[in-house]
Amino acid sequence: MRISVIGCGYLGAVHAACMADFGHEVVGVDVDPEKVAKLAAGVPSFHEPGLEPLLRKGVDSGDLTFTTDKAAIAEARVHFIAVGTPQRGGSYAADLSYVWTAVDDILTHARPQSDGPLVIVGKSTVPVGTAQAIADRVAEAGLDAVVVWNPEFLREGFAVQDTLTPDRVVYGLPEDGVASGVARTALDEVYAPILEAGIPRLLVNYPTAELVKVAANSFLATKISFINSMAELCDAAGADVSRLAEAIGHDDRIGPKFLQAGIGFGGGCLPKDIRAFMARAGELGVDQSLTFLREVDSINMRRRDHAVELASTMAGGRLVGVKVAVLGLTFKPDSDDVRDSPALDIAGRLWGRGANVVATDPAGAHAVRALRPDLQIVDSADEALDGAELVMLLTAWKEYVAIDPSHAKSLVAMPRVIDGRNVLDPQRWTDAGWDYRGMGRRAGQSV
Ligand code: UDX
Repeated sequence: MRISVIGCGYLGAVHAACMADFGHEVVGVDVDPEKVAKLAAGVPSFHEPGLEPLLRKGVDSGDLTFTTDKAAIAEARVHFIAVGTPQRGGSYAADLSYVWTAVDDILTHARPQSDGPLVIVGKSTVPVGTAQAIADRVAEAGLDAVVVWNPEFLREGFAVQDTLTPDRVVYGLPEDGVASGVARTALDEVYAPILEAGIPRLLVNYPTAELVKVAANSFLATKISFINSMAELCDAAGADVSRLAEAIGHDDRIGPKFLQAGIGFGGGCLPKDIRAFMARAGELGVDQSLTFLREVDSINMRRRDHAVELASTMAGGRLVGVKVAVLGLTFKPDSDDVRDSPALDIAGRLWGRGANVVATDPAGAHAVRALRPDLQIVDSADEALDGAELVMLLTAWKEYVAIDPSHAKSLVAMPRVIDGRNVLDPQRWTDAGWDYRGMGRRAGQSV
């Protein structure tokens, strides 16, 4: 199948490389020449484990090309829209301008193909109702093409695995039976290796497909805020949230995943998706249905306040001039993404309160240097720890989780640590002489 992928960010670049791996002929199009130059040379423009070999393989075979020339989509039969839908400035709603530009590009450059009608596949996360609006626009323009909505569920750090072997694929199909059949057949051909592996394929209508994505992200965000609200309770009552999560997670109906309490969720998806979902619910006149997401968002933001207050308390009531070593700046490990990162937000707030912040991150330093030139970034944990009066672990990179507390103690000025992700062993750090504080966790007790 000849495929175009419009938008080569996290989603698009990974999708293009994976589709080439499935044996398709893929052209990726993006407006950013720097990004395109890298991808065309087989080099990812962001940190994503497993992407580079896949890109190189596709580029070397000639089946995978990247360009800024929109006209290059002319020979494709299936056009994927994989552009970003960021939060609109000054509001909660999603900015759909990149999606509409992609639709216009398809209307301008797509050409009829001899092997079947054109298929336009939406992968971006959009407010419910967008797929139908796009289908209407395509019909009005007179382009003989079928629109299908096919949300992605990939996690950064696992994007390749999540694309090659997803938990499920969802096709949001048009009501018209003939158009629906065309879309289904084309996508079945595109995803043949996935379907042959027995991965479930769900056929739904447009609004259901659009809602599946935001419903999944809302559920995950709710699960994290739930356990973080339990962390607040644990702190107040002298309980331990890690043990509580372990105990409730044994119930199959709850499950152990996404119950890691800490400084909360961030990144390019969960925060903006729950806000855009609330905004859309308001437009649909059912804002009450999602008022709980407001609470999910505010519990999440409260974690950041709590981490800063805890730092201040541990430092003796004021942060001015206190040397704080910040370990981790990205929104999660195995990613170089600092979008809406709780770690970076906390580091910035400590700096704003006068702390002498010395931060480090294995992959996010470059992005942070551009965004926050005022923050001091060093290349290693040892450099950050040197002379620190307080240590804050804010992103659970495995090299930070593995730090030897005795070695760390030999470097710092004061052995005080805040474990913002509840990933250190409280007993081990306490035994090594540290004043350990987790997020809703107990230290120095036998149970
Ligand atoms: C998320 C969804 O998981 C994915 O399905 C969707 O397609 C895009 O959004 P991603 O943003 O890559 O993926 O990260 P994810 O692994 O979900 O983590 C999101 C945030 O939640 C991170 O900041 C992470 O540190 C935090 N988190 C996650 C917790 O605080 N506790 C947890 O138990 C799990």
